[in-house]
Amino acid sequence: MHHNSSLKFRIAPGKLLTTAVLIVTMSISTFLPAQRAFAIPAEGSKMMISAPSPYAVEVGKKIIEQGGNVVDVAVAVGLTLAVTSPYFAALGGGGFALINMGDEVEVIDFRETAPGKTSPSYYKDKAKDASITGGAAVGVPGFPAGLYEMHKKHGKLRWSKLFAEPMRLADKGFNVSGAWVKRAKRTEKRFNDAGRKHFMKKVGVHYKPGEKLTQKGLVKALKEFKRKNVSGFYEGFVAKDIVQAVKSSGGDLTLEDMKNYKVRWLKPLTANYLGHKIYLMPPPSSGGVVMKSAFSLLEKLKVHEKAPLSVDELHLMAEVLKRSFRGRATLGDPDFHKNPLDYLLSEEYLNEMAKGVSLSKAKSLKPITLKTIVDSNETTHYAVMDKNGKAVSLTVTLNGSYGSGVVSNRFGIALNNEMDDFTTRPGQPNMYGLIQGMGNTVEPGKRPLSSMSPTLVEKEGKMVMAIGAPGGPRIISGTLQAIYRVLASDWDLDSAIQAPRLHHQFLPDTVFVDRNRISPDALELLRKRGHKVEESWGARVKGVRINEEGHIEAAFDARSEGAAGGY
Ligand code: GLY
Repeated sequence: MHHNSSLKFRIAPGKLLTTAVLIVTMSISTFLPAQRAFAIPAEGSKMMISAPSPYAVEVGKKIIEQGGNVVDVAVAVGLTLAVTSPYFAALGGGGFALINMGDEVEVIDFRETAPGKTSPSYYKDKAKDASITGGAAVGVPGFPAGLYEMHKKHGKLRWSKLFAEPMRLADKGFNVSGAWVKRAKRTEKRFNDAGRKHFMKKVGVHYKPGEKLTQKGLVKALKEFKRKNVSGFYEGFVAKDIVQAVKSSGGDLTLEDMKNYKVRWLKPLTANYLGHKIYLMPPPSSGGVVMKSAFSLLEKLKVHEKAPLSVDELHLMAEVLKRSFRGRATLGDPDFHKNPLDYLLSEEYLNEMAKGVSLSKAKSLKPITLKTIVDSNETTHYAVMDKNGKAVSLTVTLNGSYGSGVVSNRFGIALNNEMDDFTTRPGQPNMYGLIQGMGNTVEPGKRPLSSMSPTLVEKEGKMVMAIGAPGGPRIISGTLQAIYRVLASDWDLDSAIQAPRLHHQFLPDTVFVDRNRISPDALELLRKRGHKVEESWGARVKGVRINEEGHIEAAFDARSEGAAGGY
């Protein structure tokens, strides 16, 4: 999680990438402990974007110039990320988005599904890492269907228009970043032959940061998706290329699975916090349930009355997160499993949880069921918001970096390993060492439980923030704390996102704090209150909000690459 030498881009509103203000990311260790503000958010008055790649923000700005709405921008940003950031946003992934077009907040679920030939015992006789690397790890991709359905419902510009820039970047090439190179190097051994062919210069030789990558195969796949929309990806030669890659790497994905893939439109969960209404991602994400519990406990315990970043506040935040994550292992895909939301979100249960919190001492709790989950940090988030509060908050993932390591041969489409988000071997730890619940076993057509938490915040009937993050379960705590800093501490969005954070997910009973961002003295005081404290990495939050002056602020997390810009 160190980015000492990487460049990040903060794109001044209205300026071209070539004239963008470049800010050299400081070594994280140069941040003062508990320092408050690290930068200022990019600001605009029309529409702003926060995304993990400067190319994506530039493409988004072109779509704004052409008169596109927030959904057009979100689709073009997504297609661009599929070109520039395939490790977490390839067309072979999936995700969720919350969309506000003025009438009501809608949720689109384009999470991957388990192929038809899977079952709860699918991994029983397979290699230990079969849900992580290779074809058996691949769920049916949902990202292309998500982009298409979102556009079909709300897009203003022509579908084909949104492809021009992403296709140009794939065809003429783009300059790979340091993060891109690191991820290709880390995945080299897990890639299939096509992965090495598409994402390495030649056998044994990696690209260097700043070198140009062209993806002629991907141009053809994008062209087919542009021409024939979903059937251009889920049927025909692109689907065949994907199925072939999965089958030859030990998986069971079929053309029928591809053809049958459908997005779901869901209703958001909502929470109230300090006079704001917060729209949250419902199951099959655990994010909304955990965040709704956390906002309720934060308010019941009046955590906002503690000084920002004081030991009292950090201690209470850890106790709140621990209790909010406690129920996560009981959750699963609502089409297949009855989620005990009536219990987990009841006043009775939340009052009981709040009552158990002491200001002087951390307390351990018994699990509701056996264990909870840790999952991937190789996800990404982007957010788009206009001056009227119309917004898209979208999280997309392949689960692990480059997912399963399986890449389609002709078109270079990286495929997810989302199957590892299921309870693949009941009672046994998943790739991050922990055990998941029984509502989340593998079943054909089912979506694995997620932590992705695209979120929107409304104040007095007006949408004022679109926010989210990658980072497995740390998505939930990271997004929550960034929102909390704005709402409770009244910080600008950039300060709120860069601020030190902590994470507790119930099991293990450990407080994970941002490495080198909280003073050793504060950590010692937390230990004295009974917490097991470990310095670790944090989620990479991205968001856009309308501030008190009516300006649109966009900010991205200095913990990773990103860009913020617009008009
Ligand atoms: N694959 C990470 C998540 O969905 O939470």
